[in-house]
Amino acid sequence: MIKKNLLIAVAAAWLALAAGAGDAGPPTAPNGIVMVQGYREWQLVAPSFRPDKEHIRVILGNEAAIKACRSGARPFPDGAVFAKIAWKTRKHPEYPDAVIPGPFAQVEFMIKDAGKYKETGGWGFARFVGQELRPYGRDPGFARECFACHEPLAGNDFVFTVLAEVP
Ligand code: HEC
Repeated sequence: MIKKNLLIAVAAAWLALAAGAGDAGPPTAPNGIVMVQGYREWQLVAPSFRPDKEHIRVILGNEAAIKACRSGARPFPDGAVFAKIAWKTRKHPEYPDAVIPGPFAQVEFMIKDAGKYKETGGWGFARFVGQELRPYGRDPGFARECFACHEPLAGNDFVFTVLAEVP
């Protein structure tokens, strides 16, 4: 009996493993950009707030992006990446006048590769929505929507955010 239960348990574990393997790796945007890893370790460019969406965001940059933000060198070099993380807001439970991050909303990336992403200002755009990091967009054309709004920022290589000042 014990042996039979053990067999069932092993079979169940194997099935769970097999099912997990089926949904294959990190989330991937319709333009082929794979969910970026390690962005949690990047440096802060600036926070931002969208009252209409009730979103708190932070914009982070990898080393190449931060270096160019500091020096002012434009265009950004290939390899520069920005991440924009957004949370819904909530009141701090211990101090309701303070507005703090609530549930995670989405994370977006801009990846510089002047050749590969020529059509969209040299930036590869990707957005991953909700806890499950659902890739945004039906097909690769979704990036045109991103670029359309970033395009007026041509003077800053299509990047909105500048380093938040600290003394
Ligand atoms: C309607 C306008 C609009 C659209 C569409 C848009 N963005 Fe942005 N994006 C902004 C603004 C404004 C900022 C500045 C920071 C903020 O709003 O919090 C920004 C900032 C960013 C940043 C940080 C770097 C920077 O430029 O400041 C990333 C990364 C980003 N957006 C990715 C995307 C992606 C990916 C898409 C499409 C899936 C997208 N954006 C679509 C307006 C837009």
